[in-house]
Amino acid sequence: MQNKLNEIREKAIAQISAATNLDALNEVRNTVLGKKGELTLVLRGMKDVAPEDRPKVGQWVNEARDAIETTLESQLKKLEKEALKLRYESEKIDVTMPEEVLTQGSLHPITLVKNELVDIFGSMGFFVYEGTEIETDYYNFTALNTPDDHPARDMQDTFYLTPEFLLRTQTSAGQVHVMESKKPPIKVISPGKVFRSDDDATHSPMFSQMEGLVVDKGISLCDLKGMLDEFVKKIFGSDNIKTRLRPSYFPFTEPSVEVDVSCFQCGGCGCKLCKGTGWIEVLGAGVVNNKVLEGCGIDTNEYSGFAFGIGLERIAMLKYGINNIKMLFESDMRVLKQLHE
Ligand code: DAH
Repeated sequence: MQNKLNEIREKAIAQISAATNLDALNEVRNTVLGKKGELTLVLRGMKDVAPEDRPKVGQWVNEARDAIETTLESQLKKLEKEALKLRYESEKIDVTMPEEVLTQGSLHPITLVKNELVDIFGSMGFFVYEGTEIETDYYNFTALNTPDDHPARDMQDTFYLTPEFLLRTQTSAGQVHVMESKKPPIKVISPGKVFRSDDDATHSPMFSQMEGLVVDKGISLCDLKGMLDEFVKKIFGSDNIKTRLRPSYFPFTEPSVEVDVSCFQCGGCGCKLCKGTGWIEVLGAGVVNNKVLEGCGIDTNEYSGFAFGIGLERIAMLKYGINNIKMLFESDMRVLKQLHE
């Protein structure tokens, strides 16, 4: 009996020591100590042992079981330690490695100018209307007092999609949509892309504008002038900037004006930026033509309005000292890196 127990014990200990994973360990535990395990069967067979021999045999069985369990326990600890070591090895971090450089993007100068304009006019109580880039001939021209064959249509070389639809040439088209859908008082700005068949150092076939419109009782050119004075001081960041209005022509305004600002680089003495004149042209504006108001169902005995159209690229070129509009469209990182806030 003692030999048999020794044999079970030696074999189990050898198998446990050779086990390289938890499954193998469990397997040994079952074959020796499980319900039908070799040692369990010996214990069950105790009834056949002579009563005087039972304490002795019982002691041998217990010793064998203790030895096996102790070996199982220490092998389990050893395997766990090895597994942990492997995990640490595989998750090792080299803290001396150089960090991955994350480059951060920034807003495009045109977006910055647009956001700034929206902020300035927003603070004056204007709401934002964004129209569509594809417009009808009616909203882009006819409703703005520029009917078919009107010579002013030649001021803007238009991309027609069909005889009725076109790529809007001006955000002024938004004025009409707003006046058709909302009763005065109206105070709206409408930023967006516009398209014209134009291409040189200061013109691009796609560019950005922001239209402004105010319609209320008793609105006059003085209100326009006062608001513009405030606006240019904010956008060019100086209280010393002056505005002047020059007579001009737009079919949808009467009278119409071009708005100049005193050169913020030379203070009006004359420099390269203002081409020696001391003044820089920044936008077109005027008092809304009664025909436009009436076409939108607004009673001109009661209401009047002013409108203005700002070229965002022009403002960006002036603000950032850019002399070629293409720089704003070429996505050249060397240029853009200098222009973010
Ligand atoms: N729509 C004009 C253009 O694209 C700009 C403009 C001029 C808009 C005068 C206006 C305005 O509202 O009153 O050239």
